[in-house]
Amino acid sequence: MAKHFLLLNLIAVLSFCCVVLAFEPSPLQDFCVADPAGTAKVNGLACKDPKSVGAEDFFFSGLHLAGNTSNTFGSKVTPANVAQIPGLNTLGISLARVDYAPWGINPPHTHPRATEIVTVLEGFLQVGFVTSNPENRHITKVLKKGDVFVFPIGLVHYQRNVGKGNAVAIAALSSQNPGVISIANAVFGSEPAIATDILAKAFQVDATVVAQIQSKF
Ligand SMILES: *[C@@H]1O[C@H](CO)[C@@H](O)[C@H](O)[C@H]1NC(C)=O
Repeated sequence: MAKHFLLLNLIAVLSFCCVVLAFEPSPLQDFCVADPAGTAKVNGLACKDPKSVGAEDFFFSGLHLAGNTSNTFGSKVTPANVAQIPGLNTLGISLARVDYAPWGINPPHTHPRATEIVTVLEGFLQVGFVTSNPENRHITKVLKKGDVFVFPIGLVHYQRNVGKGNAVAIAALSSQNPGVISIANAVFGSEPAIATDILAKAFQVDATVVAQIQSKF
């Protein structure tokens, strides 16, 4: 009995280790500020000489500024990730501001490398994500100022401004470089295109419908 208990514990500990290691690992040094001139091929970005690192490497200004939502979707993401803040390299975290015009959407997308936690600073947002196959359960809620919601890593999610005025949200993501796969762009806007007949069969519609959607992306 005790032996079984130990074995189960060991399995639990080992699986915990593996799950943890599947994400951005704990840094092995204080920081590794991204060196834009670095040529070493590493998973992430090469480190600058720590002696040449300064406050600017850990700094970004601009999340107080509203993004321009005059576009097809009526939303704008202002990122603050390793591309803007080299000091985020290897640290497994980043931020973004999202602005929404009334009825604007942040269309369905996924972050291949990050869980996202979002808080509403202003307005009302309908948010949702869909679980993986075979359930494809749609989990959705309307958020108001001060509310917080989580989109688990990899799952397709979206937001829509359902208020009368503009909406603003701040999102934190568990990667220095979360990545974005916009579903419509990936499926209908790839370069070169996925064959129209493949998409017609996949989406169970006429090829002309697929061609029409492809022409928009
Ligand atoms: C916002 O974007 C639109 C469309 O690209 C552009 O016409 C407009 O000048 C921009 N507004 C500002 C304030 O930058």
